[in-house]
Amino acid sequence: MSAPASTRGWGTGGVSGRAAALRRRYPTVDDLQRAARRRAPRFAYDFVAGGVGDDICVRRNRAALDAATILPRWGVDVRRVETGTTLFGRKYALPVGVAPMGLTGLLRTGADESLAAAAQAANIPYIYSTVGNSTIERIARIAPDVWWFQLYGVPADGHRVSLDLVRRAEAAGAQVLVVTLDVPVRAKRSGDVRNGLVVPFKPRPRTVFDVARAPRWALDMLRRGQPRFDNFRPYVGDDASTQALAGYVFRQMAGPMTWETLARIRDVWPRAMVCKGVLHPDDAARAVALGMDGVLVSNHGGRQLDASPAALEALPAIAHGVAGRARLLIDGGIRHGIDLVRALRAGADFAFAGRAFLWGHGAAGPEGAAHVAALFDEEFRIALAQAGATDVPALRAAGDAMTA
Ligand SMILES: Cc1cc2nc3c(=O)[nH]c(=O)nc-3n(C[C@H](O)[C@H](O)[C@H](O)COP(=O)(O)O)c2cc1C
Repeated sequence: MSAPASTRGWGTGGVSGRAAALRRRYPTVDDLQRAARRRAPRFAYDFVAGGVGDDICVRRNRAALDAATILPRWGVDVRRVETGTTLFGRKYALPVGVAPMGLTGLLRTGADESLAAAAQAANIPYIYSTVGNSTIERIARIAPDVWWFQLYGVPADGHRVSLDLVRRAEAAGAQVLVVTLDVPVRAKRSGDVRNGLVVPFKPRPRTVFDVARAPRWALDMLRRGQPRFDNFRPYVGDDASTQALAGYVFRQMAGPMTWETLARIRDVWPRAMVCKGVLHPDDAARAVALGMDGVLVSNHGGRQLDASPAALEALPAIAHGVAGRARLLIDGGIRHGIDLVRALRAGADFAFAGRAFLWGHGAAGPEGAAHVAALFDEEFRIALAQAGATDVPALRAAGDAMTA
């Protein structure tokens, strides 16, 4: 049994338990990222960490957040702060969720299930990607209360497969449908090309060397198998190989998501719907006119157009344009509790983090993913109190007046 708090002395060293051990070992997401990097081969780490082109946009997202200062306000009784936030009719524990990510199993197997379970336990949204390495139905069982579905279009046959994915997500109970707009063409990720990244993994001289230096990763892959695009099994065949599924995704999942297709999907989807990847205020206005309930301001974590503005920079004009008509969500570079204050102060209702959660799983598996949610909770509580706000509405209301 742990000692009563009064005998433990001062500092985190006196706290016991598994969660506290993780907190000591990985006090920030940066620590988790370093540990995930040590465990994975280079091509897998770079696939997650990297962006498009020269990674300028990846850095821009972070630089914009770092540059956003918060003028602290004192004298407020912040002994009790309330971090809960209501979004699309549901109350979540924090204004942050897990952004959709594909091919997550490359960094460490079981990532989608691990992130979904962490989100369900923490009561935060988890967006499962079309190109995740689990299935819609499995994720629905793991995170029944908090999972959303992210759709990439499959244009062939008048979007037959896209509409079937939407139907399956509805049947499985997805809370919200997120349609990604910002991949009209496949981006050129030179890092992946240089690293010889191919899915499924094929040994080449360079990758063999990489894998030899990552024995824990290699053992895990051998034991649990390479990541597969299992959502597509019904369309490729129940006994489809990893190779056949990857080939299908590569060939079929190409082409833009047009406004016309978005309107068709809006017609059949009965619950809240968000479009993701919006940066231009006119696109945000068009999305709202089409009936979107939310707009996710994002540059895909710097993975599509290297010259995109930072998501945080794009937010104010969009917030001005759609004020009160849709909920505003943001992602890109979010990795600390204080980033949530920055995003909310800039006009967002809710933020999402991608890599931050994946580093948690990459470093320490399911416990690591849960630890990232705990870090956001701990850090956001502190940041909220230092901003002089006792809850999220108060923080939002303070807006620009409290930003230096
Ligand atoms: C490894 C990886 C895979 C991603 N896959 C998808 C995806 O399948 N669908 C999607 O809409 N966005 C995808 N994204 C973009 C994220 O949803 C999100 O916009 C971005 O990661 C946010 O930036 P952050 O990672 O700095 O938090 C992916 C991002 C990463 C890092």
